[in-house]
Amino acid sequence: MSQSKTLIVTGGAGFIGGNFIYHLLNNHYKVINLDALTYAGHMETLLNTNDNDKHIFVKGRIGDSDLVESLFDEYQPAAIVNFAAESHVDRSIDGPAEFIQTNVVETLSLLESTRKKIKNYSSQAQQDFRFLHVSTDEVYGSLGDTGLFTEETPYAPNSPYAASKASSDHLVRSYLHTYGLPVLITNCSNNYGPYQFPEKLIPLIILNALEGKPLPVYGNGLNVRDWLYVEDHCAAIRTVLEKGRVGEKYNVGGNYEKTNIEIVKTICRLLDEVKPQASKEPYEKLITYVDDRPGHDLRYAIDSSKIKNELGWTPAETFESGIRKTLQWYLDNLEWCRQVTDKNYNRNRLGTSL
Ligand code: NAD
Ligand code: DAU
Repeated sequence: MSQSKTLIVTGGAGFIGGNFIYHLLNNHYKVINLDALTYAGHMETLLNTNDNDKHIFVKGRIGDSDLVESLFDEYQPAAIVNFAAESHVDRSIDGPAEFIQTNVVETLSLLESTRKKIKNYSSQAQQDFRFLHVSTDEVYGSLGDTGLFTEETPYAPNSPYAASKASSDHLVRSYLHTYGLPVLITNCSNNYGPYQFPEKLIPLIILNALEGKPLPVYGNGLNVRDWLYVEDHCAAIRTVLEKGRVGEKYNVGGNYEKTNIEIVKTICRLLDEVKPQASKEPYEKLITYVDDRPGHDLRYAIDSSKIKNELGWTPAETFESGIRKTLQWYLDNLEWCRQVTDKNYNRNRLGTSL
């Protein structure tokens, strides 16, 4: 795919989508950013695109077929990159229906609008078109103490969030096999970095610590996640878009497996170094073990050898440098945190309803 082309990115006012918008603009793409601005989507994330005429923001839902189809008519995009989703496991425990609505029903609608509209493209443009669906390693379920998720690992989603993403992956795949839509799927591990909404572990711990509040660790803190710096995920998605083989799925991971308690203690140690508490007490004293997440997956770990060997992607950031950068970003952007949470989120525990 040539870099002068126009793309539609959905969910580009969220965490990864927002970072991806900057990544594309730095790489000379023109982007139509379609986002519904839910509790997780914020124009404050896009302030640095303000004077960039290659970024056009459109407020709306991926399930609004008239709107999506009008964007095809106006811009003839060369690809759609679909980030738009409900993304938080804890919220899916409290209210699965919204996850089915956006991640399944509206993703189907986006596929349908795309299928309908690219029929008007020339046959070459139809072949060159890409529908890239951004998905998660959670579709594979949970690992024990050993092993890695490969692209061949059977799907076994355990939360309503994971089940909704698994369902959308299957729909995307079916649109290639049934209708010939040129699709790609990426399944990525846990991201961290700038602009992550503070309901997720890393920003929540940073902000609670700065306010001297308890640092909630679910269960025994020994669940493992495989952490990837968000810019590396963005580079992986662009690599798949430009070089991926149609119909293939690619796992993406950082190869940095950490227990949750290690993550929380690392943040505490870095904060002791760069922003010690006035009392001089170590931040670790704020750690509080709380009830476990229902159905909590024990361990995720990704085998990224397919994207590395076939497409030449490798992550640039180490966990040590990435977590320092992330912490500094939050320290420098407390106003962003205040603006995006002010009306709709107070960092209280989510996802305990059974
Ligand atoms: P996020 O919650 O930060 O952002 C989601 C964005 O989608 C928001 O801007 C929201 O306004 C928008 N949105 C929600 N419903 C919409 C709809 N119906 N129409 C249009 N826009 C809508 O999510 P994120 O963490 O940036 O994740 C983005 C994607 O990447 C998701 O599909 C998620 O499943 C996937 N993913 C996330 C991670 C991670 O660690 N965060 C890892 C792997 C994959
Ligand atoms: O693996 C990819 C997935 O990573 C993405 O698909 C999801 O969209 C993304 O939200 C993330 O899911 P997790 O559930 O792993 O992320 P979260 O930040 O919610 O939790 C990370 C781990 O930390 C998890 O084991 C639960 C635990 N946790 C989380 C919170 C919010 C705590 O111990 N305390 C907390 O307060």
